Amino acid sequence: MISRRRVLSGTLAAAAVPFLAPGGSLARAAEPPHRAAPHRARAAAPGAFTMAMPVPPVLRPTSSAGGVDYYEVTVRRATAEILPGTATHVLTYDGHFPGPVIRARSGRRLLVRHHNDLDRPVAVHLHGASAPPECDGNPMDAFAPGTSRTYIYPNRQPHASLWFHDHAHHLEAEHVYRGLSGTYLLTDEIEERLPLPRGRYDVPVTIRDARFDEHGQLAYALGDRNRTTVLANGRVTPYFEVAARKYRFRLLNGANLRTFSLSLSDGTPLIQVASDGGLLERPVPLPVLTLSPGERADVVIDFSRHPIGTRLVLRNTGPGLPEQTGQVLRFDVTHTAADPSSVPRVLRALPPVTALPAASVTRDIALAMDEDGRPEPRGFINGRTYEPGRIDTTVGFGTSEIWNVTNTNARAPHNFHLHLVQFRVLERGGRPPAPAETGLKDTVRVMPGETVRLHITFDGYRGDYVYHCHMLDHSAMGMMANLRVR
Ligand code: C2O
Ligand code: CU
Ligand code: CU
Repeated sequence: MISRRRVLSGTLAAAAVPFLAPGGSLARAAEPPHRAAPHRARAAAPGAFTMAMPVPPVLRPTSSAGGVDYYEVTVRRATAEILPGTATHVLTYDGHFPGPVIRARSGRRLLVRHHNDLDRPVAVHLHGASAPPECDGNPMDAFAPGTSRTYIYPNRQPHASLWFHDHAHHLEAEHVYRGLSGTYLLTDEIEERLPLPRGRYDVPVTIRDARFDEHGQLAYALGDRNRTTVLANGRVTPYFEVAARKYRFRLLNGANLRTFSLSLSDGTPLIQVASDGGLLERPVPLPVLTLSPGERADVVIDFSRHPIGTRLVLRNTGPGLPEQTGQVLRFDVTHTAADPSSVPRVLRALPPVTALPAASVTRDIALAMDEDGRPEPRGFINGRTYEPGRIDTTVGFGTSEIWNVTNTNARAPHNFHLHLVQFRVLERGGRPPAPAETGLKDTVRVMPGETVRLHITFDGYRGDYVYHCHMLDHSAMGMMANLRVR
């Protein structure tokens, strides 16, 4: 155990070197997280509302012959203007921070050939996808610098707002932090038939936090609690000019540790229309939307209620000091536009949880990490830290199971993510889940002492996958396990 931790620290320290600004040092890269609140004297969000929020570009296929879309992506270093006037070194898919958008259709195969132009291995995972095991981006299935890897996505699942991110063993947390994440929007006829806002009024927004050093470079330390700069689509607390009409925002919490609780400054609710695995059955008005790392929520905001010139802030009342992390982005209503869109009262049909296939097995899954203040806390699932090659859970292909997932920590929040499947939440803390959690989910919050009861059907593929806490610093600490579907 101790030697594994040493290896991990060494890997991360060494990995941080190439990203430093010229003149940076290893010592700086490896400095521990600040304990006090050193940034408090500075403005909460330096440069807040001075930069426009970009919309990530949609990638074009290099070929669509034979009913298969073929994409090429280069995983490479780049610089991004995250803070005004500063070039920050980042890791990217094709030069974009955050990564680009891939649009896919259910039932249509899509291939992505990734070229690894970095100096370290990468593995690309499509989060929320039902993908064959050799295309899932398993931590132990990384590809080396200078090589390429083709991932095949059969898209044999309904529409959903998915995302792709790095998953290379022991490196995933730092890689995602430094920029290796992108958006994958899978659509189908059920979704396309609805009159929801589309085109330029359907905007992916990745929300995350970061800590910058004095050179404006991303500072990374495992478990860092001082990532107090909030980014929306890769810009510090930006503004976004909108028309006085409805928009659909595909929100992704792309942070490694931070949970966001989002609300609008005019007090009107966010209308949630989709969760991780696609549309909810009905729209859910939410005064506050809570998203833990890896979770997605599509929300509709109607700006037509507001006169031109209105500025609305998307606020965060999650953990953290309001003056540091209390604002995410600002919507500036600048013009009018026609709006043929609407939010139907019924969005889709899902089987009621009482009609799900009977579960043949019930399992208890305990998430835990050291919280005694030791410098290198370890993460555990059912008392064990992640061990490549050790199969922790074997399930039968096509069967359904109940998983009771408990956070056994007193203070540390966790969440739970399972590859390959979308599950249903049966209970949270012994009670039925809130309406926003009644859809298809692949990542679910589990607060200290809490238990969530999940119904999971292991269809799709046979093979080896992982499940883990999606606070990626925790999974890098070992809070991850191997699942075999056979
Ligand atoms: Cu978002 Cu194991 O993944
Ligand atoms: Cu995943
Ligand atoms: Cu965790």
